[in-house]
Amino acid sequence: MQVHTSIASLRAALAGSRDHALVPTMGNLHQGHIALVARARQLSDAVVATIFVNRLQFRPTDDFDAYPRTFEQDCAKLETAGVAHLFAPSENEMYPQPQAYHVVPPPDQDGILEGEFRPGHFRGVATVVLKLFHIAMPRLAVFGKKDYQQLMVIRNMVRDLNLAIEIVAEDTVRAPDGLALSSRNGYLSAQQRAEAPRLQKCLAIVRKSILGGDSDFERLEREAMVELRASGWIPDYVAVRKKLDLQLPISHDSELVVLGAALLGSTRLIDNLEV
Ligand code: PAJ
Repeated sequence: MQVHTSIASLRAALAGSRDHALVPTMGNLHQGHIALVARARQLSDAVVATIFVNRLQFRPTDDFDAYPRTFEQDCAKLETAGVAHLFAPSENEMYPQPQAYHVVPPPDQDGILEGEFRPGHFRGVATVVLKLFHIAMPRLAVFGKKDYQQLMVIRNMVRDLNLAIEIVAEDTVRAPDGLALSSRNGYLSAQQRAEAPRLQKCLAIVRKSILGGDSDFERLEREAMVELRASGWIPDYVAVRKKLDLQLPISHDSELVVLGAALLGSTRLIDNLEV
């Protein structure tokens, strides 16, 4: 695996390659990230992974400084997974001067769910992902359904800006008890870790009710939030939405996804289940 810290070095190494796949990450890698790499390998000649903790998508009060940085272990995992090129730029390489141009997702995407609770987050994500796309020029890029709204924002950006990059979605990888793997799980105490699968269980109850014919989505959402609060969580939302655009479902016929975000202690966890 070649490690590149500069854009020039990555571009030189990729010159002439027409079939590489991109897997963008912020590091602290787990089996979820490795599943994206495995998928990318199946679909392309060479995988380019990126590790960059992107300040633009964090708010000042977020965990940017505390975000776990485990570069050596990450390199070993990517090497084993068969990554050909790792792009791990410094902040100065990505943002030599403050980023002045941004990709601004429309309010119906940026202002709902995660966007409502993390203002500016998707602007930061879309901007860095567009930069990474232009830097690596992949034929395809793989993202996880774990961050469902992020996936939608990126798909829409690609469509709206006519980028010739195929976006591939990979299923969420979970621990045996159902907890979605996440870098933020490392913040949990042993007691919180034992409690953490409840978020997914609450979403699964909503999904089961919908599959059983219940279409009072608002009541189901409320009940799930009550259950989380009763177990000591502070939920931001539990929401039944249309898969396609994450807007409110008008009828039971649309394809649905149940999304949730909640604080467990000071750790904010998100998850979702397609119905
Ligand atoms: P990060 O949180 O490191 O996630 C990188 C990729 O891994 C994303 O596509 C995410 O959806 C996927 N992922 C995370 N946990 C997963 C799991 N349990 N199963 C499957 N896939 C999982 O998402 C980001 O970084 C950043 O916002 C980024 C896109 C890199 C832009 O900075």
